[in-house]
Amino acid sequence: MAQEDIFKKIVSHCKEYGFVFPSSDIYDGLGAVYDYGQNGVELKNNIKQYWWQSMVLLHDNIVGIDSAIFMHPTVWKASGHVDAFNDPLIDNRDSKKRYRADVLIEDHIAKLEEKIEKEVAKGRKRFKDAFDEQQFLATNSRVAEIKDKINAVHSRFAKAMAESDFEELRQIILDEEIVCPISGTRNWTEVRQFNLMFKTEVGSTADGATSIYLRPETAQGIFVNYLNVQKTGRMKLPFGIAQIGKAFRNEIVARQFIFRMREFEQMEMQFFVKPGTEMQFFDFWKQTRMAWHQALGFGSENYRFHDHEKLAHYANAATDIEFHLPFGYKEIEGIHSRTDFDLSQHAKFSGKKIEYFDPEENKSYTPYVIETSIGVDRMFLSVICHSYEEEKLDSGETRTVLHLPAALAPIKLAVLPLVKKDGLPEKAREILQQLKFHFNCKYDEKDTIGKRYRRMDAIGTPYCITIDHDTLKDNTVTLRDRDTMEQHRVDINQLIDIIEDKVSLTTLLKKL
Ligand code: GAP
Repeated sequence: MAQEDIFKKIVSHCKEYGFVFPSSDIYDGLGAVYDYGQNGVELKNNIKQYWWQSMVLLHDNIVGIDSAIFMHPTVWKASGHVDAFNDPLIDNRDSKKRYRADVLIEDHIAKLEEKIEKEVAKGRKRFKDAFDEQQFLATNSRVAEIKDKINAVHSRFAKAMAESDFEELRQIILDEEIVCPISGTRNWTEVRQFNLMFKTEVGSTADGATSIYLRPETAQGIFVNYLNVQKTGRMKLPFGIAQIGKAFRNEIVARQFIFRMREFEQMEMQFFVKPGTEMQFFDFWKQTRMAWHQALGFGSENYRFHDHEKLAHYANAATDIEFHLPFGYKEIEGIHSRTDFDLSQHAKFSGKKIEYFDPEENKSYTPYVIETSIGVDRMFLSVICHSYEEEKLDSGETRTVLHLPAALAPIKLAVLPLVKKDGLPEKAREILQQLKFHFNCKYDEKDTIGKRYRRMDAIGTPYCITIDHDTLKDNTVTLRDRDTMEQHRVDINQLIDIIEDKVSLTTLLKKL
């Protein structure tokens, strides 16, 4: 099945099984805004817990905060967002549709990359077992031609973006004969800048309302609290401040489901270090964050670093952790060495001294910062996409299963009486009563046991127990494993120990 079709299926699965709904669904939705349903919120909370505990619990020099979404408007002047948080937009005159010029070019490059994949597939078909992909990629003339084209477009594009050269962006679109996906024409307007921050007002207009912004990142809430936390927590460098919270961006090209949203959630950690030590900590956080992702067991081949060649003016190193989604390798997390830019800017704009007194050096200086910044929703999407499988069974049937890491699964255990009579529901509820204090359980007595297993597979429940007539005699139940579908009898008194070890976040955290 084409990756595009799989992605469509995942999106409808998310809706059908209570993971993600379009916002204001009964009003036909609101572009790029989504609600998390009864299963989605549990999965999302578990992802957040996994991140939070890996930061705040496992590092004694990292603390958390929860800053407000509304901030003083000068924060965004100081951070550079008022002047530079822009997207280059271009309109197609025929379809009247608006696009991000950079995304049009990136999509064009992705199409060229797909052409290479098609050549590889053709080569594999032709040479069968003798096919050597590395050799083919290095020697095939058609592949070489496409690679040259990609490199040429990419270097023009990177230069135009770095220099904010909008005429050149438009020229690339024209030269590459990129057409509007709706009208199919090349009738493009000029490229214009568009600020991504949402503006609103606080206070009544009569009193003189102040324009403020909905924060486009959570990081600034950390920077403006650096002094508060350092002093009240008596923190010594190096130390970190972590935060999870909503961020808002007026994304123009909103697509790919929850990959690019207008209201989303970030998990950010700013790590304050002594100037000159930042590269050592940048490398440390690159490895630490990659280990966090890979502990989920999705296969190291599905991740890669994408080091930034062109850096923002305040950064001296930056990389993305990309994950293989059905629409290609995409950024899930950014790790940035931001120098002393943010703290210095806030010192300048607020007039406050924002420094650290180093007792060993007996002097004050502005700390440098390494930032790790991951989108909760993108992480959620990567977990769902990797876990989704339409599995062909020996019986010829197909079952849809989410192989979620057990610690992230919304429901850990389903408690299922085999039939709705003979005292089995009562016994099942008695067991549920004991287990529900230990992990998230669901009781289900409707439909055949087979249908109930499938429902649980579809939401990624790692274990099901079935209460049958033997349970009443020998106090045992059938424990079914989601992935292997194997079943074995277990004493009810052993259930907590067996399951807790497999589904607990602690087990996952211990892999780090
Ligand atoms: N403080 C740095 C910062 O915000 P960013 O690369 O703009 O950096 C960090 O964003 C992460 O936030 C991204 O890697 C992505 O996971 C997530 N993110 C950014 N924009 C998003 C959007 N429109 N929808 C969903 N997630 C987004």
